[in-house]
Formats: sequence, structure tokens, C-alpha cells
Amino acid sequence: RKCLTLALVFLQLLGGFVRHILQKGKSIRELMEENGVLEGFLRNNEKADPASKYHFNKDAVAYEPIGNYLNAFYLGETSFGTPPQDFLVLCDTGSSNLWVLSTCCRTQACPANHNRFRGQTYTLSYGSDNLTVPLGYDTVTVQNTVVCNQEFGLSENEPIRPFYCSDFDGILGMAYPAMAVGSSPTVMQGILQQGQLSEPIFSFYFSGQPTQQYAGELILGGVDPQLYSGQNTWTPVTQEVYWQFGIEEFAMGNQATGWCSQGCQAIVDTGIFLLAVPQQYMNSFLQATGAQQAQNGDFVVNCNYIQGVPTITFVINGSQVPLPPSAYVFSNNGYYRLGIKATSLPSTSGQPLWILGDVFLKEYYSVYDIANNRVGFAYSA
Ligand SMILES: *[C@@H]1O[C@H](CO)[C@@H](O)[C@H](O)[C@H]1NC(C)=O
Ligand SMILES: *[C@@H]1O[C@H](CO)[C@@H](O)[C@H](O)[C@H]1NC(C)=O
Repeated sequence: RKCLTLALVFLQLLGGFVRHILQKGKSIRELMEENGVLEGFLRNNEKADPASKYHFNKDAVAYEPIGNYLNAFYLGETSFGTPPQDFLVLCDTGSSNLWVLSTCCRTQACPANHNRFRGQTYTLSYGSDNLTVPLGYDTVTVQNTVVCNQEFGLSENEPIRPFYCSDFDGILGMAYPAMAVGSSPTVMQGILQQGQLSEPIFSFYFSGQPTQQYAGELILGGVDPQLYSGQNTWTPVTQEVYWQFGIEEFAMGNQATGWCSQGCQAIVDTGIFLLAVPQQYMNSFLQATGAQQAQNGDFVVNCNYIQGVPTITFVINGSQVPLPPSAYVFSNNGYYRLGIKATSLPSTSGQPLWILGDVFLKEYYSVYDIANNRVGFAYSA
């Protein structure tokens, strides 16, 4: 639930941009330049046609292309209802509920189609705002995977309506059922119960050179060997809530830090852009990278020191999983910014918790094995 909140913090940021525009009269372009992350948004704001990008050739495997929006959201197309209506949803391994914004319905028939509401609601926390989501059920389609009677929320009171419909219509949570608010069945549960996949596995590919049309893929029911190289490093899920696993050691450059000498935990979260570092190690992390916090909150590295930023390495189930500076340092209008953020999200074991977001997932193809409760990482193609 905390992680869902984190995912929603991004929504709030987006909302922040909107309020900015409304209050200060700034253009999106000005904000784009200020934030340095919104390139491409104006250039191509058309909804992508996914048809050209996915291959459809294997039985019972669905290839869901994922577009990149605002360089921070990775969205895939999902259809709801009969006849189906398309929504762009954030495929999020850091939460478990499915919901879309009713205001993003593109035809008047949409709310009418969802008249089978159970009269129940659940409430998601948006920082200080709350989002009340009535629950209904209908057919949900992700590429060639069709789930009947899938429960989902159709939110009516989302706070930042003007901006993100058509760019972002909802969230498709892919974490464990234990994380689902209101004990709603997850989409994966629906898919598996209805025998829609040959294997209870899904995997994510995030391209290193994302465009709005194609930033990666969600593969339901398997892996796509063309999208990774080498062997998968498998590791057991330590708690079946998030996709969470143990980290045995964390190194910066050639130096083991010892931060995980009592064990660390990590969750892999496609709904978060950054790499989140346990709060208690943030200062040491900044010191080892030579970064400082700028007034706008960014962690920046002076270009004279950029050569000194180390490769960081996680040891996961005995295997080294390195993340080079090219993966987590971004050149940003003449300065360098780290793609990191502190997190004080506690792990239930009390061990320090890392959150591996898209910064990590561009380097590593990730596999989520539901039957064996394990996560795999292989070098991204
Ligand atoms: C949101 O819900 C929480 C928990 O029910 C409550 O404490 C809080 O006051 C609510 N916030 C708003 C803005 O309604
Ligand atoms: C962890 O690594 C060991 C040794 O390589 C391997 O045998 C084991 O299967 C791995 N754990 C999982 C869950 O795959």
C-alpha cells in the first residue's frame, strides 16, 4: 500500500505540473524545459498505435507494447467493457489493484457499460488526498488475453483531471493479491483462473532508447529471448506482497559497503522511475558518488567529478548485478543528475529496503514467476 502511494506520488507530481500551469501561467514547454524530462511530449502526443509493434505468433502469450510518457510513465493499452474501450494504464508491479478514471471514458456508453457495480468501494491514498473507487466488474482485455468478470475500480473523483486523460487513464497492478486494497482479485489472478496463459509468468522489457510509441514490453505468459541476453539470475521472493527479494551485499565501485551485512530487501517496481536508496544510506551514497542536493531537490554531480561516479553493484542470490553510471546518471541541461531518491519505506523484516524502478529495469529484463515465487533478471537487449 505504501508502494502504491509512492506510485501515486508521481501522479501528484504530474498534478503539480498542472497546478503550476494553471497558477503561474507557465506553458507546458516552459515546464518541460525546467524539468528536463518532458521532451517528446509535445512532439508526439498522439496515442500510439500498438499494432505494428507486437508479435502475435505464440499461443497463449501476449506481447503488450509499452509507451513512454513524460519519460516517467510506462503505459500499455488495455480494454474494458463490451464493446471494448481502450485505456492507457500504468502496468505497475508495485501495486495490485486495477482502476481507471471514469472521466477518461471516450464514449458516452462507457459509464453505462459499467452499471454492474457491487456497491462497494475502496479508498486509495494520494498523499493528503483520497481517491474513492467504486468497484465493478467487466471484461478486461490486454492484447490477446481476455479476462471476463474482472473486478476493477472506476474512479470518479481523481484530483487532476484536466491533464492526464489520454496520456494516463489508470493503473494495472501486478503485485501479489495480498497487496490488493479491498481484497480485489488481481488481473493476474483473473487471467490465470480463466486459463488464459500457458505459464503463470510475466516479464518486462524496458528499452534503453525509449520513444513514446515504444518504450518496452510486458510479456504475459512467458519471456521474449530476443529482449535479453545471457542467463537469468533467479532469486526467491521473500514476502509475497510486493515482488520482494533479498540483497546480500551492495558495492560502490570495488568497495563493498557492508550496508547489507545484516541483509537488505528490495522490491522491483515498474511504477517508479527512479532507484530508491534506503534513507539511512542516502548521505553515504551521495558522498561516494560526489553528488550534492541542489535547491530544486535534484542530486547533482559537478561535471568535473563525473568520471568518479562509480558502478554500483547489488549481490542477488550470489550473483553480481551491476548498475553502471550510464544507467543512473542523467545529463540534464548542462549538469548531471542522479536518478535516485531516498526511501524510508520499511521492510517488514526491519532490513533496509531498496526500490528498483525503471532506472534499474532499463538495464535488466525482469521476470516474475508466480508459480515458483521467484524473480529473475537478465541483461536487457
Ligand atoms: C483520507 O483518509 C484518511 C484515512 O481514512 C483520513 O484520515 C484522512 O483525513 C482523509 N483525507 C482527506 C483529505 O479526506
Ligand atoms: C539461487 O541460486 C542458487 C545457486 O545458483 C540456485 O540453485 C537457486 O535456484 C537460486 N534461487 C532461486 C529461487 O532460483
